[in-house]
Amino acid sequence: MIRQLRKEEEIPYDLLLLADETIKAIDKYIKDSEIYIFESENKVIAVYVLQIINKGIIEIKNIAVSEKHQGQGIGEFLLKDAINRVKENGFKTIIIGTGDAAVKQLYLYQKVGFEIFDIKKNFFIDNYPEPIFENEIQLKHMIMLKKELE
Ligand code: ACO
Repeated sequence: MIRQLRKEEEIPYDLLLLADETIKAIDKYIKDSEIYIFESENKVIAVYVLQIINKGIIEIKNIAVSEKHQGQGIGEFLLKDAINRVKENGFKTIIIGTGDAAVKQLYLYQKVGFEIFDIKKNFFIDNYPEPIFENEIQLKHMIMLKKELE
């Protein structure tokens, strides 16, 4: 059900924009990343994006489930798929970043074994032209989480 998007297929920006603010921000990483899609009834309903940081570390740059299908366990399924895939490919560490007010995401990532290891201070203020709000709180810092794959 989860497969890599082929080069000639359309990038599912509508889904990627649920996890990132602008196409400009997405285009900074999408061209040198791998895109994995989850399909149901021939429709792409969820996506995750992997970018190699170095030989041992890979980052989930974007993960999104269509609004209609959220809260049904698909996000957790995708994260576990990403973790297994990366482990099988010999990477030692998988990382993911999210906003400081993104309570649901922070919960979910820790639930599947990620741990906070860094904070990119003022990331959302310095990198985006407009303030971004989540859970009615302005996003300021990027919380970085990692999972070791030994
Ligand atoms: N409110 C609070 N908690 C919730 C909600 C909700 N509305 N929906 C789900 N959860 C909790 C659940 O309780 C579940 O835990 P549990 O099984 O212990 O109860 C846990 O989150 C996982 O739920 P899933 O159903 O697997 O999550 P979902 O399929 O909705 O996917 C995701 C999570 C990817 C965050 C999705 O909601 C989404 O696409 N959101 C918008 C985009 C986004 O924020 N992406 C992440 C940005 S960071 C990045 O991309 C690197």
